[in-house]
Amino acid sequence: MMTVGDRPTADEETPAGGMISFVGAGPGAADLITLRGARRLAEADIVVWASSLVPVEVLAHAHARAVVHDSASMTLEDVLAVYDANPRAAIVRLHSGDPALYGAIQEQIDWCLANSRPFEIVPGVSSLGAAAAAVGRELTVPGVAQSVVVTRLAGRTAASVPAAESLAAFAATGCTLAVFLSAARPHALQQALLAPPSTYTVDTPAAVVVRASWPDEVVVPTTCGQLAEALVATGATTTVLVLVGPALDGAGGRSHLYSPGFAHAHRRRSALGSTAGRPARP
Ligand SMILES: C[S@@+](CC[C@H](N)C(=O)[O-])C[C@H]1O[C@@H](n2cnc3c(N)ncnc32)[C@H](O)[C@@H]1O
Repeated sequence: MMTVGDRPTADEETPAGGMISFVGAGPGAADLITLRGARRLAEADIVVWASSLVPVEVLAHAHARAVVHDSASMTLEDVLAVYDANPRAAIVRLHSGDPALYGAIQEQIDWCLANSRPFEIVPGVSSLGAAAAAVGRELTVPGVAQSVVVTRLAGRTAASVPAAESLAAFAATGCTLAVFLSAARPHALQQALLAPPSTYTVDTPAAVVVRASWPDEVVVPTTCGQLAEALVATGATTTVLVLVGPALDGAGGRSHLYSPGFAHAHRRRSALGSTAGRPARP
């Protein structure tokens, strides 16, 4: 049995035979997969792909001879059986967005470690970034919100959400929330965001982003008080990300990083108010 530390790692260019690559497919647009992710797909003998979360267009990066399994109707045991039956194959397990977020990869990693199977994780563009891009906002506005919490409403899998991680508890800080996996319960979501000790009000800005980066992407700017109605109006219950928090207002201070009066390792402070075009001092 291996530990994470001594497991075989993939060569950046060519994965070893038998390697299982957990690849982030990105949010949906076929050109938002990483170059490395696309290369792994092109080299894969077997692709395990979640049709419910990753558009079929992303499979265009795979070789025509690759055997494709749709994990939408498979259990974890079914997926592990594919890994087990193909010890020499280059396998890509394609996860939506970035595999580290709600990717259910930990149980697969545990299987790889227990079975001395080499694996790697190829990061992807999360729907978090794609949703923020669709809305056209920065999620960390100086003086307004400097933290983003990736979270979800406790639903059918309530037991997997620790008690201290309620939406209202996070909302009490005034940070930006990125709420995954919660669109099927719009009224419960709105209620949870406004419950004590939340500092959000009915006027706190929110945005509903359906299928960010897909051809039929939908963006609905709204408020906490109108959120349930906005969600219901989209008719979507899956592939929806809800962004909430004062940062979505678009108002706020400017970043110190690019302020002429703020020196750092790559740029000295300017008494004239601008350092444009000047070489940085060591
Ligand atoms: C199982 S989670 C996977 C999240 C993924 N690992 C990521 O980084 O985006 C699926 C949830 O992610 C969100 N999601 C994934 N892709 C999305 C997209 N293109 N647009 C909006 N939300 C998306 C939705 O909340 C969806 O219910």
